[in-house]
Amino acid sequence: MKIDRVEQIIKNMTLKEKIGQVTQIGYSGEDVDEFVKFIDEIKPGSLILAGTALAGSEEQRSVQGENLVKLQEYAVKNMGIPLLFGRDVIHGHRVAFPLALTMASSFDFKLVEKCFDAVRQEAVSDGVNWTFSPMLDMCRDPRWGRIVEGPGEDPYIGECFAKAAVKGFQKGETVENGAMLACLKHFVGYGASEGGRDYTQTDISDYSLQNEYLPAFRSAIENGAQTVMASFNGINGVPNSGNKKIMTDVLRGQLGFDGFVISDWDAIMMMSEYSGFAKDKRDSAGKAINAGIDMDMGGKVYLDYMESLIESGEVSEEVLDEAVRRILNVKAHFGLFEHPFYENQSFDLDEHLALSQKMAEESIVLLKNSNGILPLSKENRIGLMGPFASERRSHAGCWSLDWDQSLVHSIEDVFDKEEIKYVNSDLRLREAPQFNADCIVIALGEDRLMTGEACSVGNVSLPEEQVALLKKAKRNGLPVIGILCFARPIALEENIDLFDAVLYTGHAGSRGAEAICSVLFGDAEPQGRLPYTLPHYSGQIPVYYNSLSGCRQINSYYDDEDPRFWSYLDTTSKPLFPFGYGLSYSNLEYGEIKTDCDKIKYEDIENGEKFVFTVTVKNTGDRKAVAVGEAYVHDTVASRMRPLRQLRGIKRAEIGAGKSVEMTFELGKKDLGFYLEDGSFILEKGEFEVYIGESSICTNKTVIEVV
Ligand code: GLC
Repeated sequence: MKIDRVEQIIKNMTLKEKIGQVTQIGYSGEDVDEFVKFIDEIKPGSLILAGTALAGSEEQRSVQGENLVKLQEYAVKNMGIPLLFGRDVIHGHRVAFPLALTMASSFDFKLVEKCFDAVRQEAVSDGVNWTFSPMLDMCRDPRWGRIVEGPGEDPYIGECFAKAAVKGFQKGETVENGAMLACLKHFVGYGASEGGRDYTQTDISDYSLQNEYLPAFRSAIENGAQTVMASFNGINGVPNSGNKKIMTDVLRGQLGFDGFVISDWDAIMMMSEYSGFAKDKRDSAGKAINAGIDMDMGGKVYLDYMESLIESGEVSEEVLDEAVRRILNVKAHFGLFEHPFYENQSFDLDEHLALSQKMAEESIVLLKNSNGILPLSKENRIGLMGPFASERRSHAGCWSLDWDQSLVHSIEDVFDKEEIKYVNSDLRLREAPQFNADCIVIALGEDRLMTGEACSVGNVSLPEEQVALLKKAKRNGLPVIGILCFARPIALEENIDLFDAVLYTGHAGSRGAEAICSVLFGDAEPQGRLPYTLPHYSGQIPVYYNSLSGCRQINSYYDDEDPRFWSYLDTTSKPLFPFGYGLSYSNLEYGEIKTDCDKIKYEDIENGEKFVFTVTVKNTGDRKAVAVGEAYVHDTVASRMRPLRQLRGIKRAEIGAGKSVEMTFELGKKDLGFYLEDGSFILEKGEFEVYIGESSICTNKTVIEVV
């Protein structure tokens, strides 16, 4: 549809119809014949397919595709403007793919994109045309339950994840071609919630906003995202739901976003109910629309107060028209007017299950493997214990709303199916189960309902009862292999010493148990890398790899051999396992970093020239492995303090036993420059350290210079 057709529609809309268009109301499967009365009365721009505000924590009624067709037919016939059906299709629909933070552990964003493409196919086959995903909140605090919904602590991973999700969800670009609208959330800075406590305020400098919290959103917008959800938190003391600087000047003026913005659930009225930023709901509504919030999720305040705000002149009708225009332009660009319904959308369930398993296999991180005890042989006799030996649902993770629970299995189910020899313990045993086995596999983890929204915790240590089980296991005197099904990063403390091997699996989706067993027995190679830091203790939080250089001693994330330089008197502040870390079953060696040009003129870099590096990676072990090369940069002297390391390149390669592969990395202006507080991007002359290896603390280094 031409944009001037949109102008024609706006010209013909009544004030009531405009107010309806900027309103989203909830629909959770009620009787359609009853519900169309709402549509008649309110004329909403969108329905959110959810019954409660905490959609991520409760199993919702599944989407009834036939109902959406009836509702859309009614809307098109009686309103002339098709509806957007919004749903939290975060990381799966019928098939639960691994959680976002688990997927990010793969460092394989081509595969991540395929997964989101598969999720799209499933959701549009039920008529869902808009998803409130990807969640792009960078986060360094695992106490925050929502860390599991996003890509972790690193801006570059955030950029890669954002691009993969938007391209996967919006593949085809229009309804006719089976696309689904992505929604970038939560704009912006929600992941900095103080103390990891959900819904608290955030204190983010403009410098940090530009260089750490915005990159993922820039990447998503560059890749065609058309909708954004404003976040609950505020910046500089202003709630984002009423923050014109953030929602208009930064999002539109600086990032060039030209779609529309929806509030989070009832977030507009929270500005008067909780934040004390507005005197009442009516004031909230005025502040929100004037700040650039185009649609109200929850459907109360714009509906109830916009007419009065327009009449009083506190909101001009032009502002309302602009919000309507943005919404209609997105619907027009999406081809929704020409094709309000999906046709012939189907998908191959088995193909999606296999893809989910592959994603999970690539996301599992091998943290420890003493004496090469893994992979196990299927001839091994295994003592199997721990609450996650029989757990099924939690593998699907939080925000799995329409998942087919019959598709999810437990580790025990897979052992049975694969006829693995195992005995499992009665967890109620007071004393250590005396296993007649070669080793013990203990499966621990956190329940899916302990993660996601409103699921912050004050202590991210291994739960006491699980530590007690682990100590019981240890008393057998057998090797102990830990399968840790934790979606969030946890603090293992000294318990790490009780394991002989550890696989960190996240919440790995509908085929999570199959993936775990596939890696456990070596049918798949462990290749996951941590997109976050694993601390020794909760007390170290926040501890993350890309912190700015310190003001006195060397930052002890990287170097604290001398206790005098420890940041704490009572403990190291080194991580237990650093960002980017992960082992393979073989042994990979990274050779010298080679570059045929270690100095490039400033103006040449500005004009697009790049530094090129090659590294030979050799597999010195006796089995194939997947190498995940990571390139880090450190700007040694700059007009702002710069991170000690910044991930700026990832290369993956499967390498046969005894074989080598050459990896090539390029670093250009985007990798060497940074944003100033005002959003301008600069590159400065000077030296840069470049590290290439398999974690953020790799020491394989070379030095380059922009002259
Ligand atoms: C919730 C969440 C948001 C979700 C929305 C709709 O409060 O903050 O992530 O998309 O409401 O369920």
